[in-house]
Amino acid sequence: MKQDPITQAVRIQTPRTNEMEHSTPLFLTSSFCFESAEEMRAAFAGENTNNIYSRYSNPTVQEFIDKMCVLEETETGFATASGMSAIFGCFMTFLGSGDHLLSCKSIFGSTHTIITKYLKKWNIDHSYAEIDRPETWEALIRPNTRLIYVETPTNPGLDIVDMEWLGKLAKKHGIILLVDNCFATPILQKPARYGADLVLHSATKWLDGQGRVLGGVVVGKKELIEEIYLFCRNTGPALSPFNAWLLSKSLETLDVRIQRHCDNAEALVKALDNHPKLNWIKYPFHPSHPMYAIAKKQMLRGGGLVTFDLKGGIEAGKKFMDALQMLTLTSNLGDTRSIASHPASTTHSKLSREEQESVGITPGLIRISVGLEHRDDIINDITRALESC
Ligand SMILES: Cc1ncc(COP(=O)(O)O)c(C=O)c1O
Repeated sequence: MKQDPITQAVRIQTPRTNEMEHSTPLFLTSSFCFESAEEMRAAFAGENTNNIYSRYSNPTVQEFIDKMCVLEETETGFATASGMSAIFGCFMTFLGSGDHLLSCKSIFGSTHTIITKYLKKWNIDHSYAEIDRPETWEALIRPNTRLIYVETPTNPGLDIVDMEWLGKLAKKHGIILLVDNCFATPILQKPARYGADLVLHSATKWLDGQGRVLGGVVVGKKELIEEIYLFCRNTGPALSPFNAWLLSKSLETLDVRIQRHCDNAEALVKALDNHPKLNWIKYPFHPSHPMYAIAKKQMLRGGGLVTFDLKGGIEAGKKFMDALQMLTLTSNLGDTRSIASHPASTTHSKLSREEQESVGITPGLIRISVGLEHRDDIINDITRALESC
């Protein structure tokens, strides 16, 4: 009987060894052995599915990939050492000299750096599309556009792309659609249902969910993943089996954790709605979100990230951060522990005001990654810190 993906995320496991372990084993090994020269020859010729070397494949890493494929409703995948190596691996696999990439403008900072600083070195051009002006996207597509890349919701702007519309646009032009599903996770949103050919994650965030390891994964259509696999197997961004073991264990609790993150985020949004110290609060499932209807259409719930804009701008932002007693000041997100960040004075401080504005970053913008502490403690810490602004 076919099991629900949430059950499979708990139950998928590498075949039980002779030790009869209950919890999943960890294959912490760089390479694998062969019984004979013939078996080894056949493995290298691709005539059997034996593991050869952990840069190519590893059973613990495969277990993590198999769970992600079930959750994302995709055929196959490849896991990488970080989210950035998944993104870079996809770009390098599908883009070559003379090609063009179309990306939404509001994307994670290091992805922006790859696109604007490094792709240029290989004569790969790009266009940035405004996330809130879908009517302008089609005109940016060129005959040499090979890849469309989006984050939804975006980091840190929490903007949303209509994936049904985008999936149709990519299909019409025969372009590969790659979606960074890091913020929503497959619990809340499944981009492949809307025509995404490839879906990737920084597993460092919600998938681990406990701030322990770096990891990345890309899942999608078999023929595309095969090309990514060949690029990565030779260039070496493989996920460590130890990290894969932690990530696979984490997926057993992903649904429970994400539901509670959403419960706490919703309670925080309710507590901060119309707060006198704030210009606005942004959350995909808040009716004031500009893409509320689209979020409701493609996401199950609003997620664990909330942003708000402090009335006092950059100085208020710094004061707010200093006044927090429980929330952590750190640049990660998607942890059991609630985290606050102030992009204008940290991650995005090198951008000009105009550049910040164009990706939705105001001087007083605070991003909260809502954790799993009791919601009253999260709300109390934030509202107390707001008093000091
Ligand atoms: C949306 C998004 N994509 C990709 C990344 C990069 O992931 P990693 O830090 O695992 O390389 C991040 C990291 O914050 C992110 O937020």
